[in-house]
Amino acid sequence: MVQYAKRRESMDYIIECMHNIMESLTNKELTSFGGGAPAKEAYPIELIRELTQSVLNDEEKAMQALSYGATIGLTTLRKAVQENLLIPNGIKANMDEIMITAGGIQALYLVCKLYLDPGDVVLVESPTFVHAKMLFDSFEVKCQSCAMDEDGLNMEDLEAKINRYHPKLIYTMPTFQNPTGISMSAQKRKHMALLAEKYDVIILEDDPYSEIRYSGERLDPIKTYTDSKNVIYANSLSKIFSPGARLGYIVADSEIMKDLVDMKLAIDTCTNGLTQAICAEFFNGGHYPSHLGNLCNIYRSRRDVMKKAIENHFPVGTKQTSPDGGYYIWVELPRGLDGRELLPVAIEEVKITYGSGSDFFVEENHEGSQYLRLSFAGINEHVIEESMKSLGEFFKSKQ
Ligand SMILES: Cc1ncc(COP(=O)(O)O)c(C=O)c1O
Repeated sequence: MVQYAKRRESMDYIIECMHNIMESLTNKELTSFGGGAPAKEAYPIELIRELTQSVLNDEEKAMQALSYGATIGLTTLRKAVQENLLIPNGIKANMDEIMITAGGIQALYLVCKLYLDPGDVVLVESPTFVHAKMLFDSFEVKCQSCAMDEDGLNMEDLEAKINRYHPKLIYTMPTFQNPTGISMSAQKRKHMALLAEKYDVIILEDDPYSEIRYSGERLDPIKTYTDSKNVIYANSLSKIFSPGARLGYIVADSEIMKDLVDMKLAIDTCTNGLTQAICAEFFNGGHYPSHLGNLCNIYRSRRDVMKKAIENHFPVGTKQTSPDGGYYIWVELPRGLDGRELLPVAIEEVKITYGSGSDFFVEENHEGSQYLRLSFAGINEHVIEESMKSLGEFFKSKQ
């Protein structure tokens, strides 16, 4: 039998984690707090039906939507991203510095494709986004983790590891980090922007949750603190428009962007023109502010219910983060409870699934199994309350 590439083998463990998460999202018998799916109520179905009609009824728009398009993306959508998402967040980017990608994951993928060789070191947060870890594994790089504080990456540890490992790239999610929900302070963002230049390292800033803020003050992206080419900003339209549309974007210096565009050209020529056109229509029709307001109201209420329910029903000594936005609460179980070992038992006994903390750490044998990632976004308040009660009682019964 012809041998698979070596990278396939190194991905075994992470592939299993990802399959478990994806399967939990589609298994109707389970209540899943494990994945990162939006609320059903967050899909503006009627509006998307109308916008699709309006694209297809217009000869020019329809042709553009159905043809091969420019690799960098539809001009109308790039302009809409610039006006609705970048300028309001302080990011000054010209049109030739903005590319539409097939989801936020492809934005990360393209940056990896351009910069990473096997054996390079990537610094990540501890814990980090499981899918990014999968991606880094597929590029056969070595991930080294940096400690997190309550206000984001620990700068001393980060700088010490830059000096020790000479990384090619630092991957960070400064706002409502996945999985912890933690946001990096403004001071640390400024510091990180300086590090990008000082050590000539790429900072890959991944920011899919910052728009979904329910409380607290808006924070400027790291990218706004520097003109350095070394900070590349990646984002997704999955959480604020639709994951099924598979749309995301990258902002990078125009010279680097040319090469990122070439990477994408080699992979898939262009992003889906129809969903790009519908999404452009969505922004340009002025629908985004009220849609976002609606999303924030849904998620704020779900977060509040989950937070309270964890406080009320989980074993004494349980700790949890208090995110001002995003999708996730990161829970630390009291000593003696192992979230990873108990996951199949919870599925069996209470038909509930959650993100097992150990999946989010890059070290083999990391002791992360006292943690759980709970996503409150996709489940309504009543089911959250009932499920947290069952899960809390389940954990108490295993103490
Ligand atoms: C941290 C982070 N980055 C990127 C993405 C990209 O998502 P998508 O490819 O669905 O747009 C996600 C989605 O869950 C995420 O949580």
